[in-house]
Amino acid sequence: MEVVIVKDAKAGGELIAGAIADLLARKPDALLGVATGSTPLPIYDALIARTGAGDVDASRARICQLDEYVGLPAGHPESYRATVLRQVVEPLGLPESQFMGPDGSADDVQAACEAYDKALAEAGGVDLQILGIGTDGHIGFNEPCSSLASRTRIKTLIEQTRIDNARFFDDDIDQVPHHVITQGIGTILDARHLVLLATGEGKAEAVAQTVEGPVSSLVPASALQLHRHATVVVDEAAASKL
Ligand code: GLP
Repeated sequence: MEVVIVKDAKAGGELIAGAIADLLARKPDALLGVATGSTPLPIYDALIARTGAGDVDASRARICQLDEYVGLPAGHPESYRATVLRQVVEPLGLPESQFMGPDGSADDVQAACEAYDKALAEAGGVDLQILGIGTDGHIGFNEPCSSLASRTRIKTLIEQTRIDNARFFDDDIDQVPHHVITQGIGTILDARHLVLLATGEGKAEAVAQTVEGPVSSLVPASALQLHRHATVVVDEAAASKL
């Protein structure tokens, strides 16, 4: 695992956008796994700026989701599908045909999970997966005690994650879904390159446990220690407990 400490979130975003640019130069139709939340936004901003300036050709890039809420009506603005469309796919000018994600409104959620795992494999696997980290060390929506070998499946959110995400739902925790679909930790580890960005002091404890603690299902992000090409980019505040 490579740990890179940068000055701030903007520098982290630019560094990772640079890695994506290098990937797209080598493989124009790379499959890029994207995360939601506030942390990755500087990555997307930097990538969109580079494509706008003509430095990067992302026109053939393929984008895939990491996770999704279950039960939100199709098109709900806070569904992760809508969020990724708004933050990444549309600003990059990509057609929806180059974007894939699990169906959180499916009648048979289990079948939707299995179908998504299969679709990722059939697409050739994720080339670079961007990850954030929850305050409890979760990646995607793999909460503590998730199996390190898990595949895409339905999960129940713990209270803290619903509290953390209430800000996207008018600060009303009752609007935050209880259930989600998430790529499993085993699914995430199948990506060729994992890039986790963590910024701010609130992530410092989770980062320390991820990087310096034992590999444990209690800290799902610690599974990155098992990956042959994992990069953890942290700003000075998030690195403060290393
Ligand atoms: C959600 C997402 C994660 C994300 C986490 C942290 O739980 N499912 O993928 O890493 O939030 O979000 P933020 O970056 O806003 O702290």
